[in-house]
Parts: sequence; C-alpha cells; structure tokens
Amino acid sequence: PIKVLRTVDAVRKWRKPHVLDHRIVGLVPTMGALHEGHLSLIRAAARESHHVVVSIYVNPAQFGIKEDLASYPVTSLAELDRELADDGGNLGRISAVFAPTTSEMYPSGFPGQEVDSKGSFVVMTPVSELLEGRTRPTFFRGVATVCMKLFNIVQPEKVYFGQKDVQQTVVIRNMVRDFMLPIDVVVGPTSREPDGLALSSRNVYLGKRRRKVATVLNRALRAAEEQYLNGVLDRETILKAANSVAVDTLNEQMALDPHERVKYEVDYISLADPSTMQEVTEVDPKAGGILSGAVKM
Ligand code: PAJ
Repeated sequence: PIKVLRTVDAVRKWRKPHVLDHRIVGLVPTMGALHEGHLSLIRAAARESHHVVVSIYVNPAQFGIKEDLASYPVTSLAELDRELADDGGNLGRISAVFAPTTSEMYPSGFPGQEVDSKGSFVVMTPVSELLEGRTRPTFFRGVATVCMKLFNIVQPEKVYFGQKDVQQTVVIRNMVRDFMLPIDVVVGPTSREPDGLALSSRNVYLGKRRRKVATVLNRALRAAEEQYLNGVLDRETILKAANSVAVDTLNEQMALDPHERVKYEVDYISLADPSTMQEVTEVDPKAGGILSGAVKM
C-alpha cells in the first residue's frame, strides 16, 4: 500500500534524507477524486523527478461560502489505492501521499471562507480578481495560500499543474516568481473525454442533459482557436467565432425544452495575455494568447 503522511512533521522527516542526497522531488497538489487528468500529471512528475509526492487536501479556503465544499467528492484512502491501481504503474511511482487535516494546514485556526476573513493569506492582484476570480472572490487567495503552505512543507524542486485550470497556473507562476521560490512550475496538457469535455472531479455534478451541453465550451474555444490558426489576430473576430458557437448552442438547447426551467448562459469567453490573464485586443503571435471561458447552467 501507498505511504500516507498526515502531518507536516512526518513530511519533513521523510524529505530530509532526499535533500541531502540531492534527490529531485516533484509535487502534484490535488483535492483527491483522482481522474486521468491527475494521473497524467503524476506520470509527468514520475518521468522528471526521483520522488513524486501527491497531496490530497480539499482546501476549504478556496471554496466560497455558497459553494460546494460540503458535497465535493472526498477520497478515502481505500479509494485512493483503487484509483491509482487502476492505472497500472502509478502506485509504484508515488513515494508518498500527503493527506493533512485542516488543523494541520491552518495551525492558527482556520480563518474562514469570507472575503474579509482575518488570517495569513497569499494574494496576487489583479490576476486573482479577473475571470474565475470575478464570481469567486476568495478562490485564488485560497489556492495561492494552500499552495504556498504545500510548497513550504514538501519543498519540491518541481510542481505540476494542469492547463485545464489555466488561470490557476498563472497565479502559481506569479507567486513563485514574486516570492523567489526555488521551484520549477510544470504545466501539463488537459485530459479530455472522447467528446471533448475536460475531465474534472466536478463533472459528476452534471446530469445527462447538462453533460451533453457541457461540450459547448470546448467547441466554442476550438472555433476561436481555428480563427487564430488561420492567421486571424484581432480579438473581435476570434471571440466572435467562439460566441456564435456558444450562443447558438445554448439557445438551441433552451428552445428544445421550453418548459424546462433550465437556463444556460455564457458567463465569459476570454482572450488573454498568457502571463497576466489581462484581456488583449490583438494576439501577439510571439506570446500567443489564452482562450478560456465559463458557461452557466
Ligand atoms: P484539483 O481540481 O484536484 O486538480 C489538481 C490538479 O489536476 C490541478 O493542477 C488541475 O489543473 C489538474 N487537472 C484537473 N483536471 C485536469 C485535466 N482534465 N487535465 C489535466 N490536468 C487536470 O486544482 C486543484 O485541485 C486545487 O486548486 C489545488 C491546486 C490542489 C489547490 O488546492
């Protein structure tokens, strides 16, 4: 069975000899409910590091008070063994799982989930206020804070994050740069279902109908990408392609069942600078651009 560490002390004890041996440690932070997206990051870490540590912690600080903390799928250790064993070799590639409690992670007491909570936080503005941060004002503060803690506990040389949560990767890169953390941030590609939907622990929330509609986001973003690949650089043309796919699909869906009170709407579709997530009016082909979006159901 896999080695599970529960406390900061236990991780430090485990880590020390590897520092002295100049062993590269790669950390994959997760909230459990592992799927192929997580496993692909674990495999990448295993290729590039001597030791892989996977952290599993449902971090309350990154959930808004009205969000799904209570229903977020929690992974038991038995399930973890199964999730990892399903993938043949992965179990053997993980040196340790760090699965702390909230009192371990927040030694001064958990500060709470409100915007005006008092406590110690890592804050990156304005990137954490844009896009996902607009509807979730404490989200990136919670993510950055817990990642800073995890980085300090595990002291990894490399950390692995998924492109699916692209704004999160920008927040982490900025944090590593601004606080001079001696860490390489590696970003892995998005794993998808055959129909294009990005894998996510939260996909279990989607009923049959919404699950089908959910591919709209990928299709909209691909339509925009296609414009860019054809040489278009201006924001308006690129985003128009995405918006027309999204709006058409969602309207069609609502027209299909006018008696259903299911409402679908585009929250945002963004074309942003890859290092700041600020909106751009024209893509600089040298830097490229980040297409991302959210649809409300
Ligand atoms: P979680 O949603 O569990 O995701 C853990 C890591 O897996 C993140 O880096 C995420 O981007 C990556 N990931 C998720 N779905 C993916 C997919 N379909 N393809 C590739 N990678 C994928 O993101 C978090 O947890 C938390 O915010 C965390 C960083 C652990 C901080 O609490």
